Amino acid sequence: MQTFTSKLVKIESLGDERGQLTVLEENKYIPFEFKRVFYIYGTISGVRRGFHAHYKTRQALICVSGSCKVHLDNIRRTEEILLESPNTILILEPNDWHEMYDFSPDCVLLVIASHMYDSADYIRDYSRFQEVYGS
Ligand code: TYD
Repeated sequence: MQTFTSKLVKIESLGDERGQLTVLEENKYIPFEFKRVFYIYGTISGVRRGFHAHYKTRQALICVSGSCKVHLDNIRRTEEILLESPNTILILEPNDWHEMYDFSPDCVLLVIASHMYDSADYIRDYSRFQEVYGS
């Protein structure tokens, strides 16, 4: 992950004899203020989704249940990240193209985003992605 601006962050779990609890706060584990939360679940076997980068939206991805993989591409390199713990966050920066796949049947992928949904902030065309972030 060293050549990526996106990075993996470990979260402390506040466990006790009753079980686990994990807290996320703005500008602590998540290095931005957030406006939007969504979660991806019930994903059909074999599905691959994402296929975009962003102009400005920063995101934090956490597999709060199950597991999935994230393919990252910054034009110079690609990498496959396995998310399988509710205590690991992938801080996904706008300039990294991403695809999510290999969702386990119980996967709940929580996504926390810095901006409200805006389709104009998506770069869905790979050639456009290369134009914007290639230099
Ligand atoms: P989509 O962008 O296809 O998801 P992914 O990038 O994970 O493959 O989103 C599916 C639909 O949900 C699409 O019609 C846009 C809509 N959507 C919203 O309305 N708000 C949101 O915050 C998100 C993430 C998606």
